Amino acid sequence: MSDPHPPLRSYGRIRSRTIKPRQAALMDTLLPTLRLPAQPFEPRTLSPGSAEIWLEIGFGGGEHLAAQAQRRPDVLFLGAEPFQNGVASALRHIDEAELANVRLHDGDARDLLARLPDASLERVFVLFPDPWPKARHHKRRLVQADSARELARVLKPGGRLRFASDWADYVDWTLERLLATPGLAWSAARADDWRRAPADHVTTRYEEKRLGDCAPVFLDFVRA
Ligand SMILES: C[S@@+](CC[C@H](N)C(=O)[O-])C[C@H]1O[C@@H](n2cnc3c(N)ncnc32)[C@H](O)[C@@H]1O
Repeated sequence: MSDPHPPLRSYGRIRSRTIKPRQAALMDTLLPTLRLPAQPFEPRTLSPGSAEIWLEIGFGGGEHLAAQAQRRPDVLFLGAEPFQNGVASALRHIDEAELANVRLHDGDARDLLARLPDASLERVFVLFPDPWPKARHHKRRLVQADSARELARVLKPGGRLRFASDWADYVDWTLERLLATPGLAWSAARADDWRRAPADHVTTRYEEKRLGDCAPVFLDFVRA
């Protein structure tokens, strides 16, 4: 049965320019082999040999996802992104780097979160989400009290959540909500902890554009 109150759309277009033929072919051939189950599932069963399971929400063109997956072949990476051109681009990165440790949800991450059991992930990344800067659009922001609770639910004790944005108001908004979420604790001890990119960060395509109104801010939270 469909949800009578689906969440508001937190993303813009799901398709822009025509997808290049090679990427379109990967959408037909590679994507079906990587697509995550459409029902509740235990992610560990997808790759019993993986040491950890990480999730990137809104991976855009997949540069961060692919680079992290290449660095950590022992980790199973889940990625969620509804923007078809982004999914196609990520497939190209996965194909070129011959990554065997990535699985994708080509849709709304909130649907994927709802299918995941409690305490099933070691890390979650939400990097440079759509800022929705106008006050009347704030309700479209991906980070809301309920999505923050969902993130806390799926993280294992000791698991980590990273949020990054270059929109000052969205950083404040997120900080307020994550700090109010039971089970999440901000790991920052000094200003450099949020002002400087963490050592394991991979610069994203959107981050490089510097479209926001402040320097990138990184909020790392730990699940108690
Ligand atoms: C501003 S872009 C940033 C992309 C990428 N993280 C980067 O930094 O280059 C935000 C991305 O989040 C995706 N997004 C927005 N809402 C989403 C949702 N509910 N589930 C998954 N992805 C979402 C958008 O489609 C878009 O690709």
